[in-house]
Amino acid sequence: MEKRLPGPGTTAVWAGEEDREAGAPTQVPMVGSVSFGYRALDPWLEVARGERPGHIYSRNTNPTVAAFEEKVRRLEGAPAATSFATGMAAISGALWALLAPGKRVVSTRDTYGGTSVVFTDYLPHWGVDVVLCETENADALETECARGCDLLYLETPTNPTLKVLDLARLCAAGRRAGATVVVDNTFATPLNQNPLALGAHLVVHSATKFLGGHADALGGIVCGDEERIRRIFHFREITGATLHPEAAYLLLRGLKTLALRVARQNESALRIARWLEAAPGVSSVNYPGLASHPAHAVAARQMKGFGGVLSFALDGGMAAVERFLPALRWAHLAANLGAVETVAGTPATTSHVECTPEERAALGIPEGLIRYSVGIEDAEDLLADLEQALSVAREGGT
Ligand SMILES: Cc1ncc(COP(=O)(O)O)c(C=O)c1O
Repeated sequence: MEKRLPGPGTTAVWAGEEDREAGAPTQVPMVGSVSFGYRALDPWLEVARGERPGHIYSRNTNPTVAAFEEKVRRLEGAPAATSFATGMAAISGALWALLAPGKRVVSTRDTYGGTSVVFTDYLPHWGVDVVLCETENADALETECARGCDLLYLETPTNPTLKVLDLARLCAAGRRAGATVVVDNTFATPLNQNPLALGAHLVVHSATKFLGGHADALGGIVCGDEERIRRIFHFREITGATLHPEAAYLLLRGLKTLALRVARQNESALRIARWLEAAPGVSSVNYPGLASHPAHAVAARQMKGFGGVLSFALDGGMAAVERFLPALRWAHLAANLGAVETVAGTPATTSHVECTPEERAALGIPEGLIRYSVGIEDAEDLLADLEQALSVAREGGT
C-alpha cells in the first residue's frame, strides 16, 4: 500500500514527536539545561563535529527547541529550519547571515515596521544597497530584480494594510536574477500559504503570532534549504539570539492546535470583513478574502484560506478610532496578533510602533487604520461587539 502523507493538522500535532520509546513522556519535555554532559571525550567530540546526534550547549542546540524547529520545518515542507528568540531576530539574522557590503536587496515599502527599519536604517549603514518598491507594483519589483538583486524580500499579506503579492511571479523574477528569495509568512501561516512551493528559498515567521497562538511566548524561525539554513544557524549560534527552551515548549503546545485555530480564524475573519464592508461608519476594509480586494484573484490562487487579520478605516478618522477602540469588549487593545483572543490597535501602536509618524507617512501607512486580529471567540459575539463599538464611534461624531 502506498504510504499516505499526513495532512497539516496531523503534522501540527505529531511532527517531531513520532519516536516514542516505552515509558517515555508523551509530550516533549521542557529541557532547561544549559549544557549536556559526557563521560568521555570521544563521544563529546563526535557530537561537536556533527558525527552523531546530541546536544552540547543550549545556545547552539537544545532538544525542546529542536522539536519546535522540526514541527515548523515539516509544516512548511522545508529540508531544514533554524529558530530564533523572536521573529525580528529571525529576519535580521537571515539578512545578516546572507548579505555583505555591496550586496543589493529588493523589497517593498509595506513590510512589518521592524523589518522596514532594518531596510531603511541598518542595512544601508553596513553598505548594503536597499531598493524599496511600491508594494503592489509587480512590474517595478521585476525591473529592480533584473537590474541586479542578491536578495528579494517579500511579505504577503502585508502588515497592516493586507496587500497581497503574487508569489509565483515574484519568486520567478528573483530566481532569474540569481537572488535568494525570502518570504515572511507570518500573516498567512503554513496552513494557508506555502511560499517554498511557490518558488521562495526561505520562509520566515514571527512564531510569536499564529504559530504559538496564545500570546505567551516570543519566537522566530527560518525554513529553507540546508545550505542557507546552515549559514543562518551558524550566525545565530555565534551571535546568540537563541530561542529559550521554555518558549519553545509553549510554542510546541500552541502549534498542536494550529489547524483548528487557523480554520476558525479564516472563517470568522471572512465573515467579519464582509459584514464590515456593509456596516455604517466604516469607510474601507482590507481583507484578501473580499472580492473587492485589488489582488483577490492572486490571493485565491496562492492561499488556501485568507488568514485571521483584517484592517479597516472609519468615517470620522482618528477621532472616531479613539472612541471605537476602547468601546470594544471582546478585544485586547495591544501590540500583537494571531492569538486566541481578538486583538485590535492602530499602526502607531502595533505594526509600525518602531517608526516615527514621518516614517509611517513615508511608508503610506494611514494613522487611523484599525488592525483587527480575529481570535477564536464566537463570530456572533465579535460581530455584536463591533456593531456596538461602531455605534459609539458614530454617536460621538454627531
Ligand atoms: C509580519 C511580521 N513579521 C515579523 C514580526 C516580528 O516578530 P517578533 O515580534 O516576534 O519579533 C511581526 C511582529 O508583529 C510581524 O507582524
